[in-house]
Amino acid sequence: MNNMEFNKIFAAILVAGIIASLSGFVSDKLVHPHKLEKDAVTIEGSESTGGSAPAKPQKAEPITALLAAADTARGEKLSKACAACHNFTKGGPNGVGPNLWDIVNRGRGEHAGFSYSDAMTLAEGKWTYEHLNQFLWKPKKVIAGTKMNYIGMKKPEDRAAIIAWLRTLSDSPAPLPSPEPASE
Ligand code: HEC
Repeated sequence: MNNMEFNKIFAAILVAGIIASLSGFVSDKLVHPHKLEKDAVTIEGSESTGGSAPAKPQKAEPITALLAAADTARGEKLSKACAACHNFTKGGPNGVGPNLWDIVNRGRGEHAGFSYSDAMTLAEGKWTYEHLNQFLWKPKKVIAGTKMNYIGMKKPEDRAAIIAWLRTLSDSPAPLPSPEPASE
């Protein structure tokens, strides 16, 4: 290798090095990377927000204590919100949703002739007062994947009223749950 060739190779390596370090420097200047002060996206339910918003409840408030004194006439009125999808009469048809006659203590996702979502089909056990209370609070949160497109009832009094009315839709209404001890 003669001197000229050596110089060329050396120069090429030098230039490559300079370009590499310059490009890092320039891209830093162009892009201004800096750390975000806050997370760009806050995941609901994560504890790190530290804001003043109160934590969202993860469950519906219990209604056991409200059921005995609940206003069934009001419950019947509230059922207008369900009537677009549910029929409530004995032997009545299924609609967008299953017939709800005798729903208290009926098997979950088991009404004949209705095609339930997988989520509802997999829900085990019966519709206890507490199951109904949770489901009607936020259907899609409580049974993820349900095809019941209903936002839910926020107020415990409303849920107690409609569930107390649903209870009456039966040839032999289920006994009311015993009130929670020591709440009064
Ligand atoms: C937009 C239509 C719609 C509205 C409004 C609606 N539902 Fe439903 N409901 C459904 C559908 C559809 C299902 C079946 C859900 C599934 O298979 O995931 C269902 C399922 C149910 C079930 C479970 C029934 C079973 O056999 O397991 C109950 C209980 C229920 N609804 C109560 C109510 C009540 C009470 C209201 C009113 C406060 C209401 N729904 C409003 C469509 C609706």
